[in-house]
Amino acid sequence: AATTDLAGTHVVVSAGGTREPLDPVRFLGNRSSGKQGYALARTAAARGARVTLLSANAELPDPAGVDVVHVGTAVQLREAVVKAAADADAVVMAAAVADFRPAVYAPGKIKKQGDSGAPTVELVRNPDILAEISAERARPGQIVVGFAAETDDVLANGRAKLARKGCDLLVVNEVGERKTFGSEENEAVILGSDGAETPVPYGPKEALADRIWDEVVRRVTPAHAD
Ligand code: C5P
Repeated sequence: AATTDLAGTHVVVSAGGTREPLDPVRFLGNRSSGKQGYALARTAAARGARVTLLSANAELPDPAGVDVVHVGTAVQLREAVVKAAADADAVVMAAAVADFRPAVYAPGKIKKQGDSGAPTVELVRNPDILAEISAERARPGQIVVGFAAETDDVLANGRAKLARKGCDLLVVNEVGERKTFGSEENEAVILGSDGAETPVPYGPKEALADRIWDEVVRRVTPAHAD
């Protein structure tokens, strides 16, 4: 049965992976396909939310009925998140954000140096968007959700990351061969800052998205509610 349990809410979802340019033709990037974030946007819209999808380099069609903002870099994503989160009831950071970016952008293509020389690329830290929006909530009661990919000690590492980031929910994926990157399916545990621990079995990214919204609905107080 159709549910409209997110009606009256504005939710913000980031998806994809940031690209940090080195020069006009090269970037540092990652393998995030954006599929989990897009599934979150589609399912939230289906449940009645107004959805803003902040898409970082995902090669996927804009979902119907969703406001899509396309961004490239972590700095651009941060600006878009802060702007969209101002009146949001929930913010879900599904995007893979580059932790570092090249310290300088070369306005011309970086050339080979002699026969064997190679340039050194200096990196600087990117802002941690999830930690920042968790620490400075745009409005009281806003629910902030993060993602984490872990290879070992999934629950212990997830709990530590949840505390470190200061978010309300952390969706922890165990990174494995057939899981997560580019695949249609996912398996995860949703950890809550209230101690909740919700395992979600291997299945479609849409199903995980719906379980995440279930956890959000349980905690959210719509801004317009009296
Ligand atoms: O620290 P780590 O990259 O494992 O954390 C992943 C979570 O933090 C994801 O929700 C991601 O969107 C978010 N993140 C962020 N800004 C960064 C790095 C990660 O918002 N610079």
